Amino acid sequence: MSDRQKVTVELGDRSYPIFIGHGLLNNLREINQYIAGKQILIITNDTVEPLYLETVKAALNNKFTVITHIIQDGERFKTLASIEQIYSALLENVCNRQVTLIALGGGVIGDMTGFAAATYQRGVNFIQIPTTLLAQVDSSVGGKTGVNHPLGKNMIGAFYQPRCVISDTSVLATLPDNELSAGLAEVIKCGVICDAEFFTWLERNIEALVSRAPEALAKAIRVSCEKKAQIVKMDEREHGLRATLNFGHTFGHAIEAGMGYGTWLHGEAVSVGMCMAANLSNKLGWLSVDDVSRIKSLCIKAGLPVDRPKDLSADDFLQYMQRDKKNTAAGIRLILLKSVGEAVVYDGIDTSLMQAVIEEG
Ligand code: NAD
Ligand code: GLY
Repeated sequence: MSDRQKVTVELGDRSYPIFIGHGLLNNLREINQYIAGKQILIITNDTVEPLYLETVKAALNNKFTVITHIIQDGERFKTLASIEQIYSALLENVCNRQVTLIALGGGVIGDMTGFAAATYQRGVNFIQIPTTLLAQVDSSVGGKTGVNHPLGKNMIGAFYQPRCVISDTSVLATLPDNELSAGLAEVIKCGVICDAEFFTWLERNIEALVSRAPEALAKAIRVSCEKKAQIVKMDEREHGLRATLNFGHTFGHAIEAGMGYGTWLHGEAVSVGMCMAANLSNKLGWLSVDDVSRIKSLCIKAGLPVDRPKDLSADDFLQYMQRDKKNTAAGIRLILLKSVGEAVVYDGIDTSLMQAVIEEG
């Protein structure tokens, strides 16, 4: 894998590399060193399969037995029923504990493959090959895996780290514009919560990112992965610091659930949520009006919505937020900003303040 950058997620004997570069899938021989046994199951979906499956298969040593499992595209297939089908594919092909699972796709495929790997025969190796920007900057890193339950998103899951992550920026060429923007929301989030300098770099380079300039994308992915790796190293199981990665998400989840899952992309809802959380931080006397505008303006330039869907009433919005899984006995838990680059966890926010922010949003 030449012309690549490498970020390491440091977790002792579970540490792993993230390789980032343009065209990595065409020169992927190094992947073979992360495969322990002789069997490989590649899990992908019916959109990604015709685009990239053959390229990945061509890179694998011919000493391996490679099987493929294709899942239908869509968040609605991120279910335990799909996981059961993966177990069936593994068992029908007599896969043993040395099997390696490869996730080839966006966050839906990555989360499900990781969960299947965490649970098949109590844990087998897996590798992430994320093919959306969102998966390259967020979901493939840090080991959160799982599926949705009819009563809630990502309610069933496990923390389980991959052996390596391979992020090829060239696969982003086929990504629809709205999916690219959704990934940029998580990149912006990263700058907002922990790196003011990176946020300024994003303001200067947002046009290059939207036009998919490979060098700008590679830097945005690398910095996002470095920041997330630092946070995961300190708080793998989200006892505190890792919760800051959910900046904008409590508001965003209310939009996703209130509008019906799949109506808004996750990143689109997070964009509106970040603007609301910034506004709330300003009302608490922390973030300046100027910084609230900078966040909003960057989201707009990234092609993201910044206003809440008006057919979701402020009352309903608040009710969805009250069901968030981060909430504690003290009430709604939010991630707010002291300044651009400094996020804090805030418990028990005054509901009338929240109501005002939602109504203005
Ligand atoms: P996704 O996996 O649904 O992919 C988005 C769309 O892009 C799909 O239609 C997919 O088939 C298509 N696609 C993927 N790669 C493509 C390519 N290169 N070219 C063309 N089309 C391509 O969505 P996503 O945004 O990648 O991930 C969202 C999921 O990730 C959600 O389920 C969310 O819960 C999860 N997530 C997990 C974490 C985590 O830490 N584990 C973090 C954030 C989000
Ligand atoms: N996407 C949030 C996290 O990984 O913790």
